[in-house]
Amino acid sequence: MPSAKDEAKEESLVPAQIEFRGVTKIYGQVAAVRDLSLTVRRGEFMTILGPSGSGKTTVLMLLAGFVAPSNGDILISGKSVAAVPSYRRDQGVVFQSYALFPHMTVRRNLEFPLEMRGMKAVERAERVDRFLDRVHLADLGGRMPSQLSGGQQQRVALSRALIADPPVLLLDEPLGALDRNLREQMQDEIRSLHKEFGKTTICVTHDQEEALTLSDRVIVMRAGRIEQTGTPEGLYDRPATCFVANFLGEANIFEDPAFKIEADEAQPSGTLAMIRPERICLAAATAPERPDAAHRQSVTATVNKMIYAGPLRKYHVSFGKSAFIVRQHVGSGQEIFEHGDKVRLDWLRSDVRFVMA
Ligand SMILES: Nc1ncnc2c1ncn2[C@@H]1O[C@H](COP(=O)(O)OP(=O)(O)OP(=O)(O)O)[C@@H](O)[C@H]1O
Ligand SMILES: [Mg+2]
Repeated sequence: MPSAKDEAKEESLVPAQIEFRGVTKIYGQVAAVRDLSLTVRRGEFMTILGPSGSGKTTVLMLLAGFVAPSNGDILISGKSVAAVPSYRRDQGVVFQSYALFPHMTVRRNLEFPLEMRGMKAVERAERVDRFLDRVHLADLGGRMPSQLSGGQQQRVALSRALIADPPVLLLDEPLGALDRNLREQMQDEIRSLHKEFGKTTICVTHDQEEALTLSDRVIVMRAGRIEQTGTPEGLYDRPATCFVANFLGEANIFEDPAFKIEADEAQPSGTLAMIRPERICLAAATAPERPDAAHRQSVTATVNKMIYAGPLRKYHVSFGKSAFIVRQHVGSGQEIFEHGDKVRLDWLRSDVRFVMA
């Protein structure tokens, strides 16, 4: 018969399910998190996205047990962790400011969590080798953290969080300090580590692209509350509010009450029409109509500004009282417009969305 210890060990190998039940965290006068209810499925990669001060880090701190809720409960694999201190919560943590132990080599940094769990030296060495290899740092085990680049340090930090096989991985702005190329490489690394190890992961970021590319599901937070939860595509394509539409990319909102929008869907009360910049086609005002013009609405607009941005051109245009952004992929033979040019904008009626104001 398996002992309680074996059972506990078995359980720790299963990616956990996390549940917040009506959790509030108040600091003095500030409600950092308000009445948060949320379930993270086993093995899911969930990202919390939101502006500075919206409560993202607080959610992770509550889960890690670094701070206690003022109200509500948190459950991991169905059990309340209210009475479980942070060092017994068995979570791998990577915080942006969570430095490696500076006086230990890379190897020792990775060995440390294993030693804390009482793993034998031979086993430890073997596992450290495997992880160093996995994150392409096999030759750097003897270096001190200060002798590594930022990206290498992040890879060590990720490895250290994963090495003891915790059921939950918490990442707070893990790539915040990296430049764009390195960030993309590390995103690939995180994605493949997640695929390989299947840990239930909660990642905090205010980088919307990172949230969209890494996650199974995204939560958008605003002032301590969840504004909307959904898949990356669901949120980007169907934002419920102006806030989410603007936070996840650029959004053109039809705010001019005199403009009559044509859409396939009926407009619910209290909403504004919205269309993404890449859904709008831009052509010379005199260009022939598109073959599917019957499904489109079109307006004549004036170009205020054109910004060249590598793979695309971004046009700032206006018509009536509306000022819009239109993104056009750069292609050969394409007409380029400048300040003052008259253009025709048109879009499919099915691409218009309605968002709460
Ligand atoms: N220890 C604390 N004492 C008092 N107020 C705090 C404390 N920690 C956080 N807060 C406040 O709680 C709110 C949420 O903070 P939190 O750190 O969770 O934000 P965040 O979404 O992670 O922001 P950022 O993107 O800037 O990291 C903020 O208004 C912050 O000032
Ligand atoms: Mg934070």
